[in-house]
Amino acid sequence: MQSLASLLSSRVEAAAGIDPEMRPATKPQFGHFQSNVALRLAKSEGRPPREVAASLVERIDVADLCEPLEIAGPGFINFRIRPEVLARAASDLLADPHTGIDQAETPARIVIDYSSPNVAKQMHVGHLRTTIIGDCFNRVLTATGNTVIPQNHIGDWGRQFGMLIEQALDEELDLDGLDLAGAEELYKRANARLKADEGFADRARARVVALQAGDEETRAIWQRLIDVSKVGFNEAYDRLGVLLTDADIAGESSYNDLLEGVCEDLEARGIAKMDDGALVVFVDGFDAPAILRNSHGGYGYDVTDVAAQKYRVDDLHADRMIYVTDARQHHHFELVFAVARKAGYVPDTVSTEHVGYGMVLGADGRPFSTREGTAAYLIDLLDAAEEHTTRPVALAAIKYADLSNQLQKDYVFDPERMTATSGDTGPYLQYAHARASRILRNAADQGIAWDQVTALTEPVEQALALQLSRYGEIVAGVAADLQPHKLCTYLFELASTMSVFYEQCPVLKSDGEVRTSRLALCATTRKVLASGLGLLGIEAPDQM
Ligand code: ARG
Repeated sequence: MQSLASLLSSRVEAAAGIDPEMRPATKPQFGHFQSNVALRLAKSEGRPPREVAASLVERIDVADLCEPLEIAGPGFINFRIRPEVLARAASDLLADPHTGIDQAETPARIVIDYSSPNVAKQMHVGHLRTTIIGDCFNRVLTATGNTVIPQNHIGDWGRQFGMLIEQALDEELDLDGLDLAGAEELYKRANARLKADEGFADRARARVVALQAGDEETRAIWQRLIDVSKVGFNEAYDRLGVLLTDADIAGESSYNDLLEGVCEDLEARGIAKMDDGALVVFVDGFDAPAILRNSHGGYGYDVTDVAAQKYRVDDLHADRMIYVTDARQHHHFELVFAVARKAGYVPDTVSTEHVGYGMVLGADGRPFSTREGTAAYLIDLLDAAEEHTTRPVALAAIKYADLSNQLQKDYVFDPERMTATSGDTGPYLQYAHARASRILRNAADQGIAWDQVTALTEPVEQALALQLSRYGEIVAGVAADLQPHKLCTYLFELASTMSVFYEQCPVLKSDGEVRTSRLALCATTRKVLASGLGLLGIEAPDQM
């Protein structure tokens, strides 16, 4: 649903021929919006601004939206939206099952590669961010009428399995009793031994070959490590309340059978070539090539991501592919995107986007992951936030902190600030939602019904309706730009306007139509807050 602001702007542009650069009016007596379009046109046409403004006012076709236009000062045009238009916009939103979010005419098939933890390692702080951000994209792109295909590209393949399996066999490890934390301990022991014990290193290498060759015992242990890891990942997903399920897992190993074919194809077409014993692809603008096969004949991260793109286009029929990882992997993705394009695996009609995020910092401003003595596990952060509040509020705090800044920026994990119910926090938005719910509950208890927004006389009521009418556009913007902080900012402003509204406009203590209209305005605000929080993956409790 188009906002009143942009509807108005496009009408003015139709008359003026240039972007009217509508600005919110600075004072209620100037109406709702002001434009300096006449001043700018006057300059280029060499005519007096007020004269230009007068002739524009004649031609601007907004009688259905605005009170008669006013010319102010040197030639500003003031626009005051008619109260019944504002009221109707709010009522439409209240009635709309999609809460003003436009649905894609033809749903796009959107692959989102996110979370993607590594087997035999507990999810760390970085995985917290990709999981939360990817979950938000999933919700936003689904809400805009697309088909989202999450791909959890777990690290379930590679050389590390040689040492893991070899170590497990040496220790006669009880695989049935193993869990993810235990697998991580095994990883540490194997890793330590690898550095110290030459013979072990050789056996680990041989074990990788056995794994690739499909040796039964080796495969069984490998599978067991994956299974216990999945249990651990799912515990984290449950606790985070994200949408991922086992059906979304497509780990690195699932591309094994494609790798040789990709190499042969690219070599045959002259796109890949041998360089120092490795098969590589050079791409213009990149210093180093992508490595398809190393000089030992092994396949790695690059070629897997080339094959994964091919699969996502050919088999998943993706129209758009989004990858959410730590910003440090940006170069890797730019490179493998370029290779897949050069190969023709990803046609021009399919977009590829890497969304990189910054680090989570401790209170000392240093990355969690390098702090000695402090574990950087995702679960520990949840525990830290829960020391200050209940689980739903702690989750709101973490998710909002994660999504409310530009994603590329680092942010400081400060549980006390994040869980505060005032200020720009997730709990503040939950609180605003609970407050609106309480008013509506009290009204219902007193047998007072509401239906539509009708009377909007106070400036703050009008401001609230105007703000509500922007919701659909804000969500469409996030779906396009993948910048959730814009939704966060919007919701924070909405909640702030709502609290001014409560201060200035009695709801239950007013009467008649004013009361029903104000209740309907509360209901609309509550609905938009619930919808917006839902898109951020945050629960909207009715009571707090
Ligand atoms: N497993 C990797 C990590 O933990 C992330 C994988 C991201 N996805 C991909 N298609 N490469 O850093």
